[in-house]
Amino acid sequence: MRATPTHLRPNKTCATLSVIAPAPASAALRPHCLAALPGAIGRLVLTALLLAGGAGSAPAQNIELPPGPGRALVYGRCRTCHDLQYVEESKGLDAVGWDGILDDMESYGVVLSPEERRKIVDYLATYMGDQPPPAPAAAASDQPADGAALYAGNCAGCHQENAEGVEETFPPLAGNDDLFLSKDFLARVILHGLSGPITVKGGQYDNEMPAFDHLSDAEIAALVAYLRSHFGNDAAAHPDLARLTAEDVAVLRAEEAGPEAVRALRDELVGKGR
Ligand code: HEC
Ligand code: HEC
Repeated sequence: MRATPTHLRPNKTCATLSVIAPAPASAALRPHCLAALPGAIGRLVLTALLLAGGAGSAPAQNIELPPGPGRALVYGRCRTCHDLQYVEESKGLDAVGWDGILDDMESYGVVLSPEERRKIVDYLATYMGDQPPPAPAAAASDQPADGAALYAGNCAGCHQENAEGVEETFPPLAGNDDLFLSKDFLARVILHGLSGPITVKGGQYDNEMPAFDHLSDAEIAALVAYLRSHFGNDAAAHPDLARLTAEDVAVLRAEEAGPEAVRALRDELVGKGR
C-alpha cells in the first residue's frame, strides 16, 4: 500500500471543514469539494482534524514544488480542494503510487483528460518521485510566454476553458469588466490571490483563489494581455489602461500582499468605479 501522509492538513478552505468546525469568517467555501466527498472521507478528515488539535486555524500553505514540465498543471488542478501539503507529504512515491493517488482524486471529483493525467503523473513521478533529480534542473523553458497555454494550464481548471466560471464557486473571467478595474488589479490577483465575498456579473462568490506567484513576470504579463483581449473582453474599449509589462509585474511582486489585501483593493476600486 502506498504511504499515507503523517499530517493530514486539509485545506481550511474546503467546505468540509466549515461543516465540521465553524470556519473563521474569512475562510472560503469550496462547495464542489463538499459535494465530491463521500461521507466516510468526511469522517476521516474530521478524525485527522481532531488529532491535529483543530487545524481549522492553520493558514493556507503556499507550497512551492520543484520546477519542471507539468508543474503548472499541478498548480492549476490540484489546489481546488486542498493545498499542496498533501502532495508534498506524499513525496517519494513512484509512478504507480502517483497513479493510484490520481485514481483516488478522480473518485473525489477531479476531472482530467488522459493527456493531462499523463503529464501530471510524469511530473509527480519525476520531481516528487523516489529518485528526484539532484538539483531542480533548469527545466523551466525560455520560450516566449504563450497566454493561451498559460490560461489552459493554470486557470482553466477552476475558471473553465471557456472562462465562464462555475456558478457560486469560480467567477467568470469572460466578459468581465473587473479585468479592467485598474492597470494592476488583474496582475495582483494572479500574484497574490483573492479571498472573501465578491460580486461578479451579478453573481455572489465567497471563496479563495491561491496565489500564482510561481509564474514569471513575463508569463503574468502575457496572461494579463491574453485575458484582456479574449473571451469577449475587449482591451481596445479601455484605451485609458496602459499595457502591463513584465517590468510592472516585477514591481507588484515585491509588495507585501495577500488574498485579503487584494480583496480590500478590489472593494476600493469597485466602489470608485460604480
Ligand atoms: C475534488 C477535490 C480534489 C481535488 C481537485 C484534488 N484532490 Fe487530492 N484529495 C482530495 C481529498 C478529499 C483528499 C483527502 C482524502 C483523505 O482524507 O484520505 C485528498 C488527498 C490527497 C492526497 C493525500 C493522499 C491521499 O490519497 O489521501 C494527495 C497526495 C493528493 N490529494 C493529491 C492530489 C493531486 C496530485 C491532485 C491534482 C491532480 C489533487 N489531489 C486534487 C480531494 C481532491
Ligand atoms: C484553484 C481554483 C482557481 C484557479 C486555478 C484560478 N482561480 Fe481565479 N479565482 C478563483 C476563485 C475561487 C475566485 C474568487 C475569489 C473570491 O471569492 O474572493 C477567483 C477570482 C479571480 C479573479 C477576480 C474576478 C473578479 O471579477 O474580480 C480573477 C481576475 C481571477 N480569478 C483570475 C485568475 C487567473 C488569471 C488564473 C490563472 C493564473 C486563475 N484565476 C486561476 C479560483 C481560481
